[in-house]
Amino acid sequence: MLEVDFLGIPLKNPLIVASGPMTRCGSYMKRAVEAGAGAVVTETIVNEVRRNVRPRLAKKGAGLQNIRLYSDYSLEEWAHEISIVKDTGGVCIANILGHTPSEMAYIAGFVEKAGADTLELNIASPHGEGLEVLSADPEQVYEFVRSTVKNVSIPVTVKLSPNVSNIVTLAQAAERAGAAGVSAINTMRSIIGVDIETGKPLLPTFGGYSGDPIRPVGLATTATLAQAVSLPVSGIGGISTSEHVLEYIMLGASTVQILTALILNGYAILRQILKDLEVWLETKGYSSLEEIRGTALKELKSFEEIPNEPYTSHLAKPCLLPDCSLCTTSCMYDAISKDHRGVVSVDQELCSGCGLCVTVCPARCFELRWDG
Ligand SMILES: Cc1cc2nc3c(=O)[nH]c(=O)nc-3n(C[C@H](O)[C@H](O)[C@H](O)COP(=O)(O)O)c2cc1C
Repeated sequence: MLEVDFLGIPLKNPLIVASGPMTRCGSYMKRAVEAGAGAVVTETIVNEVRRNVRPRLAKKGAGLQNIRLYSDYSLEEWAHEISIVKDTGGVCIANILGHTPSEMAYIAGFVEKAGADTLELNIASPHGEGLEVLSADPEQVYEFVRSTVKNVSIPVTVKLSPNVSNIVTLAQAAERAGAAGVSAINTMRSIIGVDIETGKPLLPTFGGYSGDPIRPVGLATTATLAQAVSLPVSGIGGISTSEHVLEYIMLGASTVQILTALILNGYAILRQILKDLEVWLETKGYSSLEEIRGTALKELKSFEEIPNEPYTSHLAKPCLLPDCSLCTTSCMYDAISKDHRGVVSVDQELCSGCGLCVTVCPARCFELRWDG
């Protein structure tokens, strides 16, 4: 029921473990496969290994900042690490980074020989290595992809950065150069916070932001890419539940990738997400994910297409939360009030139909109705 086609390779499900420390070596990737992952993406494989700085991770709220660079395993060691995934029966996507088109092509050839099923070119990092330039320049993206595609026979995908002004031109450059797919998003450039007692940032340089708060950016990017290119999109960013997976797929993603939720909760949540996905599909009477792929994408309008209709808020059911005042305090138009008995009412004359109460109310008491 969860099976998907990934660049011609059948995956048992669309949930892929994204590049990073949870796929830093063969034994970690094996754990991901055994926990149910449809495929794993290696941590970024480079030609010249550099030691990672300490500290390199900080969490604040639901988000994570990292200044981890790449894999600390050498290219030669990766040949063995990839073979561990293959021996487990897993699908291995090698995430690679070369600093020139020819270096990228060389690493690609190496990992292909080592048994990688597909490639994901990492052309973006919000910290270090000057990748900001490459990740934002369509001509360079074209050159890197082109030289890699020419050197290997496995499918080549490109992982795109959200830290650019026009992601569409980059995806189109990748498509023109022969990429078989795109994945997005990599982490967002960030400073997660400042320790106001010491006056120092929590981590000493700009880093990559990930986890729950970046999901809306990942969803918007997935939809943008699904509209702009005909390549399959692997949606990434802030996934931790089956609902999040469904959101990405409904916005056009073919597969999805997950990392921060695994760092924070362990590989076991993969199994829970997959179980919940199956239950949801079964309950709704679907027999495959293909039936829901892109449903929300079709509903997405341009701003100009949205009609200006006379909707106002109405109570769909009585409020049963006497101590909650989220609707009254957040109604900017003073249209919602609660009397001394706790009865909530909406003044349709004052209501401007902004819709905030519909999503603010924890008990979902409000709905917008057409008042024309
Ligand atoms: C600690 C950490 C290390 C990461 N390392 C890599 C990496 O080596 N290569 C890469 O392409 N992306 C890397 N990423 C980005 C993730 O693969 C993913 O794109 C991003 O974290 C968003 O997904 P998430 O919100 O599920 O974590 C890293 C992310 C984190 C948090």
